[in-house]
Amino acid sequence: MNLSNFLKNKNYNSELKNILLNIQSGSIEVYKKINEENNDVLGSSGQKNIQNEEVQKLDIIANDIFIDCFSKNSTIHSVLSEENEDTIDLSNSGKYLIAMDPLDGSSNIDVNIPVGSIFSILENNINHFLQAGKHQKLACYVIYGTSTVMVFAIENDVFSFTLNTKTKEYILSHDNIKTPEDGTIFSINEGNYNSIDNRIIEYVNICKNLNSSGKRTHTGRFVGSLVADFHRNMLKGGIFIYPKTSDKPHGQLRLIYECNPIAFIAKNANAKSTSLDQDILSIIPSKMHQRTPFVVGSNNMVNKLLSFFN
Ligand code: F6P
Ligand code: MN
Repeated sequence: MNLSNFLKNKNYNSELKNILLNIQSGSIEVYKKINEENNDVLGSSGQKNIQNEEVQKLDIIANDIFIDCFSKNSTIHSVLSEENEDTIDLSNSGKYLIAMDPLDGSSNIDVNIPVGSIFSILENNINHFLQAGKHQKLACYVIYGTSTVMVFAIENDVFSFTLNTKTKEYILSHDNIKTPEDGTIFSINEGNYNSIDNRIIEYVNICKNLNSSGKRTHTGRFVGSLVADFHRNMLKGGIFIYPKTSDKPHGQLRLIYECNPIAFIAKNANAKSTSLDQDILSIIPSKMHQRTPFVVGSNNMVNKLLSFFN
């Protein structure tokens, strides 16, 4: 079943369905740029963003593609993007806000490792983008990897669709995704080992314990693209940990357009997320590009890590 027909058969809010169709078109354009066009899309653009991170050419290409798709939809009031300091106003009468990371995992673009696009959809109100993640109406990500996959959470359901690269249709590949309660994968950048909270090290050390037959009990996996690390753990069971570090005292990941949409998808797939102080989805942001420590994954694993903090 392709995405368009799937949405026709569902009773979801039609404006949210149209936003999913906008993401569908934009992501197919990004897919084509990465996989089908010979234009030079790799490498740095030579610019830095407001967070002083190097901007890759594909960051700008993906940002322009999605802004263009959303600007055709009059229900979208404005867009907050990782690539733009200020929000982009689209339609004064629009009811929805879209926060996005148009190209997640930029450091992996040049080395043929999956990257993605992440979207959070809120209703506009007096707080504009500074709303807790629990108010999201829809969250979605796309992974451009061994295949191109679009995952979204809407009305408590999580679905995944895989792009048929010949017909350019997204075909339903996972209906009603649920994350296993427990898992054996831990995902953390061990390069941060000497600058993270000891309680996290204690937890990771438990993951490294051997069983009575001398076999490992867990496996460590860290791709370095949030979408790819999350997607694997969501389907197989695991935990992703990006804590605060001495040089990033607020963590690395952005709350509104990285952690919130991933946490919303996780929640609807029966997984759990936390900043280690509170539930990610209950944090009320005070800044648009705010960062937060982020832990997400199988309930039992996240609860076990949290038990070291109580
Ligand atoms: O967008 C930020 C990001 O690239 C994520 O996709 C990824 O999880 C993280 O940063 C990797 O950061 P680091 O290289 O510090 O581990
Ligand atoms: Mn990102």
